Amino acid sequence: MSTTTTVDVVGTARDRVDGRLKVMGAATYPIDVNLPGLAHAALVQSTIISGRIRDIAVDDAERAPGVVAVITHLNTPPLAIGPPTEIGPQPLPPFQSDAVLHYGQHVAMVVAETREQANSAAALVEVTYERDTPVLSFDDERATEVTHPWTPDHDRGDVSSALAEAEVRINQIYTTAENTNNPIGLFATVAVWDGDALTVHDTTQNPHGARDALAAAFGVDPAGVRILVPFVGGAFGAGLRVWPHVPLAALAARITKRPVKVVLTRAQMFTAVGHRPNTIQLLSVGASRDGLLAAIDHVSRSSIGMEGELINLVTNGSLTAYACPNVSTRARQIRQSIPIPGWMRAPGEAEGSFALESAIDELSYALNIDPIELRIKNHAHVHPDNALPWSSNALLDCYRLGAERFGWSARTPEPRSMRKMDQLVGYGMGRGALGAYQPPCKAIATIRRDGTAFVRSGGTDMGPGTYTVMSMLAADCLGVPIERVRFGLGDSAMPKAPQEGGSGFTGALGNAVHATCVSVVRAFVNLVSDDAMSPLKGCRLEGITVRNGGIQITDDPARFETYADILTRHGLDEMTIEGESAPPGETSSATMIVQEGRFIPYTPPSTGTLAHAGAFAAHFVEVNVDPDLRTIRVARVVSAVDGGRILNPKTARSQIIGGIAMGIGMALLEETVSDRTGRLVTTSLAEYVVAVNADVRDVDVLFVGEPDAMTPLGTKGIGELAITGMAAAIANAVYHATGTRFRSLPISIEKVLGLQPGH
Ligand code: MOS
Repeated sequence: MSTTTTVDVVGTARDRVDGRLKVMGAATYPIDVNLPGLAHAALVQSTIISGRIRDIAVDDAERAPGVVAVITHLNTPPLAIGPPTEIGPQPLPPFQSDAVLHYGQHVAMVVAETREQANSAAALVEVTYERDTPVLSFDDERATEVTHPWTPDHDRGDVSSALAEAEVRINQIYTTAENTNNPIGLFATVAVWDGDALTVHDTTQNPHGARDALAAAFGVDPAGVRILVPFVGGAFGAGLRVWPHVPLAALAARITKRPVKVVLTRAQMFTAVGHRPNTIQLLSVGASRDGLLAAIDHVSRSSIGMEGELINLVTNGSLTAYACPNVSTRARQIRQSIPIPGWMRAPGEAEGSFALESAIDELSYALNIDPIELRIKNHAHVHPDNALPWSSNALLDCYRLGAERFGWSARTPEPRSMRKMDQLVGYGMGRGALGAYQPPCKAIATIRRDGTAFVRSGGTDMGPGTYTVMSMLAADCLGVPIERVRFGLGDSAMPKAPQEGGSGFTGALGNAVHATCVSVVRAFVNLVSDDAMSPLKGCRLEGITVRNGGIQITDDPARFETYADILTRHGLDEMTIEGESAPPGETSSATMIVQEGRFIPYTPPSTGTLAHAGAFAAHFVEVNVDPDLRTIRVARVVSAVDGGRILNPKTARSQIIGGIAMGIGMALLEETVSDRTGRLVTTSLAEYVVAVNADVRDVDVLFVGEPDAMTPLGTKGIGELAITGMAAAIANAVYHATGTRFRSLPISIEKVLGLQPGH
């Protein structure tokens, strides 16, 4: 028996536990699922933008080789909408009427023996439409305006007087383009019925949400519906809702009495699984000559489809970004005849922070104050609404340490003043932030007689490294070597988990795993505390250390026993306990901090004493602009991040790099374009340009800060953080390089050459 001290794996840089599976091609994504008797479905999509289906001629398709069924609104039974999830209602079920609300709406589905036969027969479906006039502009008088309850109008102080009296004002319009999530994994659904029981392999970020939606659609017991998604293939928000192709696959399987697979084409990914809607934002800031912010007025209009609702937090970040006494925010959504939008990484915050952080940069030039100094001067040391101290906030360190690492002091403030060889050089920066969010989550943990641990929960790992960090956490909390820990995800038969989204899942699941594993150890302590045969007799949770697959009396290393020995002596095959996270700022009996194998009581801050902070970042960007060709390259990025407690610096760094890459795409490349009639023009990765490796060059990530006080785990959500403030940092660097201010994203070559308006 070794007496070495337990060393936590949490906090160390570790490779992905599923990395080998993935590079070997052994990780099974929904698109890979094959079943005996599998039939393949192809979707026919609307070619008009708005109107009705007058007639669908399906005879030719039905007679085509291999066709098993053709399904339209004419032979679809009523499908009920599922219950809303943590983040709002599901999209309306498909094929319920003849109405066409957007280009690319599914209007028919062909099921055949092979995918090729299904595709070929789908081309034979003849749809006759009755068109009406789509709503394609915010200024269309038929365009209705909605406000979402998550973005209520907010007023602090008196913005109009403060703006009128301000010594310096910036008042500008900023726009962001429609962007489309483009995970490399095409969304796929495979559905198979057994009586009233339904099993579905589906690209989703929310297995329980998909289960509930499908159960409601077909009027069956949710307990008989199982969603499987051990690996997602990327989603970035596109997998947060149950899109129409999912119930359609289940419907096809029900009608044909066969397993049915549907795989969206890349073109269909642009119209059928949501996208980031465009925004037009009016931002006014007022300040005194010496750089103290007096007022921020942020008004946003963003698009939404003709049906449903969508949380889009464009203006929320402006409320707490700075210590500004007068702030007003208005977020409006305008109904348009567009494919139903959804969520895409930092939905709203990415767009809103572009406007705010651009305006603050403009203010820094108007005041002739360094942009970092201006931000430090207006730093919100406490929550600006309620004056409570933050539960943690290392943003000032992000500014200082990030600037140092970047070499900001070499910057000369004058635009166009820096050059490298023949290139214009610009240094720009931006502040990023993402609010705290932790939905409820359950987990279950088993220790078996062979000494292995199996911990699981019904959420997903869409790519950020959830399997890895949760295995690490479980290893530390149980004192079981990580090689002997298996983590299970992606199965709705596992305990109820929320969506992996809103950057809330590491906190939600991590705190659940933490609490569940503490309960497991407590159960072992209860087993041995009056066990005369055990060297641990009389032990209490406070006095033990877990390590090497068992329990030791902290002060007496000779008193040690493995879980396996305890189970064997008690004639048990395993110990299984289910648990759940306590909400931030609260505790349950299992809320403890586990450190170095020891169990330390966790005391949350007293109610109402702290404001729950989210994550913070400061981005520093160098762009190189060719003065003749006008091409913009992001040469260097340094991002300093306050992500609270970092569970695995390697996977966390990858999350930040991913956010930066999408920020580069948003700033310079990505734009979902429709023509004047409302038809989508960019329907492939050739036309819709994302940042590739060649666009993401020298990226340096720096973690600063302390564990957050609101939860025992102390993490903050960082999945979406890095895209916030990133587009502004790039646009600000472009201004510094060129002296031209671009207020319209993306800063495409057409705009830089002056061929399209953009500044
Ligand atoms: Mo993210 S848009 O919450 O998956």
